[in-house]
Amino acid sequence: MNVSRENDPDFTGCPDRRDTGSEKWDRWAGRDILPLWVADMDLRAPEVVLDAIRGRVDHGVFGYTHEPPGFAPALTDHLAARHGWIVDPAAIIGTPGVVTGLSVTARLLADADDEILTFTPVYPPFLTLPGLAGRRCVRVPLAQGPAAWTIDWDAVEAAITSKSKLFWLCHPHNPTGTVFGCAELLRLADTAERHGLTVVSDEIWSDLLLDDSLQHIPFASLDHPAARRAITLVAPSKTWNLAGLGCAAAIVPDPTHRRQWRAAGGGLVPMVNPLGYAAAEAAWRHGDDWRRRLIAVLRGHRDLLLAAVARIPGLTCVAPQATYLAWIDCRDTGVADPQAACEAAGLGPSDGREFSAPGFIRLNLACPTPRLEEALRRLANAFPT
Ligand SMILES: Cc1ncc(COP(=O)(O)O)c(C=O)c1O
Repeated sequence: MNVSRENDPDFTGCPDRRDTGSEKWDRWAGRDILPLWVADMDLRAPEVVLDAIRGRVDHGVFGYTHEPPGFAPALTDHLAARHGWIVDPAAIIGTPGVVTGLSVTARLLADADDEILTFTPVYPPFLTLPGLAGRRCVRVPLAQGPAAWTIDWDAVEAAITSKSKLFWLCHPHNPTGTVFGCAELLRLADTAERHGLTVVSDEIWSDLLLDDSLQHIPFASLDHPAARRAITLVAPSKTWNLAGLGCAAAIVPDPTHRRQWRAAGGGLVPMVNPLGYAAAEAAWRHGDDWRRRLIAVLRGHRDLLLAAVARIPGLTCVAPQATYLAWIDCRDTGVADPQAACEAAGLGPSDGREFSAPGFIRLNLACPTPRLEEALRRLANAFPT
């Protein structure tokens, strides 16, 4: 592959991902279906990150690796600069994925048959992981408003029982793109405190807010007792497109929990690989310029998507405030199976059924603009008037 040093400053191209073991591109391999489903981007990672990986490769020794000395400070500096959140580097544990981290919290902080609450619709592992850990998932539906999906507090209170132990918060929220505000987070903290719940906040999307008027507030940064014991999961993987490198971080304030964390992994959770650590550190330290330019592109893509949806009778989409995902309501189109209709039209979104929301599709907007434009033409063909 021949790529210039100033790699794609306008995000206009992407190397061919077929035959690279790409989960996204292999799903409909050999068929003319544009895959806009799983949340990775059809964009190369920033050059600063690639350089850091090359530097680590040149070292040439890849033995068992725990958090290198630069990892936690790179993250804490990033959290302070971007979100005004001061975190003790000692609280940070490297983990090969946010999903892995969620599973560990289920085992660490809940017993068999205890309940883990979460807002729905939601990223599918939130629905499936509790069961895999022998815990129970309790779904709390969000309310679909005109400008954002919002919390239905009556539904929250109605869902809580004496078996409720954890609240898995997805913040910003996948798939709706909602950025929860200070008042909502504080009310959730109050609720958690009243019922003895621990909040685990998956903030993997927190560096991809699309509106300058909004600010990501880490749940654990609130001045509240429930926030002080919350566990936060973050990763550079969504923002800088590094999912295949398997590097995330848990921010675990309680030293006892930190000691118990590895044991809760049950010997199943591997260490983070050294290339993942190198990439994460470089992304947090040096990736902000790239991130800002990416957001400008993603905003344009959101506009293209909303305009396309507005032209198709029966489709609606609440504009995402964060993420590069569009959560599209197809229930008024009269099409019984929107996923099948999209695939027949050459478009591969995620199926809302997997998120606990039949009648919806989720579209990944993070690809070169011409590819998105073609995808939107196919979307229109899937829902003919
Ligand atoms: C909310 C959320 N959490 C976690 C993940 C996956 O994280 P990881 O690859 O670090 O397990 C995703 C991926 O799309 C996600 O959207």
